[in-house]
Amino acid sequence: MSRPMRIDVVTLFPEACEPFFSASILGRAQEAKRVEIVCHDLREFAGDKHRSVDDRPFGGGPGMVLMCGPVFDAVERIESMDERPATRILLTPQGRRFEQNIAGELATRERLLILAGHYEGFDERIRVGLAPLELSIGDYVLSGGEAAAMVVVDSIVRLLPGALGDEASPSEESFGIAAGDPDAASERCLEYPQYTRPREFRGMAVPDVLMSGDHGRIRDWRLAEALKRTKERRPDLLSGDDSDGGLTGRRLQQRGDAS
Ligand code: 6GU
Repeated sequence: MSRPMRIDVVTLFPEACEPFFSASILGRAQEAKRVEIVCHDLREFAGDKHRSVDDRPFGGGPGMVLMCGPVFDAVERIESMDERPATRILLTPQGRRFEQNIAGELATRERLLILAGHYEGFDERIRVGLAPLELSIGDYVLSGGEAAAMVVVDSIVRLLPGALGDEASPSEESFGIAAGDPDAASERCLEYPQYTRPREFRGMAVPDVLMSGDHGRIRDWRLAEALKRTKERRPDLLSGDDSDGGLTGRRLQQRGDAS
């Protein structure tokens, strides 16, 4: 088996990230040696006894700015801990919007180094000098990059081979819909409705088709429901507003109309 992917996370709050990375799928993926996740306290790389990592902005203004020295030292020392080159990622609301296709791309890398800021921005020379991939998890403001680091790491690790165990498949869900159709595995669409026992709950019944045992009909129903739900809730995924010009949505629509 290949070496586990290595993910280093540099943060002012490693204690906020570590329990999340130890739980559930991420914890199991680490136990199964699919990934190794290491959190680092940026203050460990501070240059003074006060462990300073930020300072006031030149030119004035509110807030603090993360300094170059501790961040460059952290990146250089952490990168030297493993000979594989790292893909550097900076989490910032100014970054490219993080989406499933980027998660898929990053899941193919051997090593990631993620920089999460807190409150403050980064000195511009961090971007210029370290040339990281800058990512944002959406158009809202977080007080720090820690929650974003958890989001990004979770969405990547669950795509690693074997990370979900034998049964679940990451391709059979929203944004990577298969709807039981292997050809649709990479289509962007919301997930179809799911049901489990009991067959009737407070007057609400499970659709008969799911009890029919007819896998062809079940597959068609799921595909149609996924498409209907996507049209209702996220027409942007089908309309061409999204980054792939709606191409996958149009292909899905054709398939849905045909069935
Ligand atoms: Cl990556 N960081 C912060 N601080 N806020 C965000 C974000 C990242 N993505 C969306 N909002």
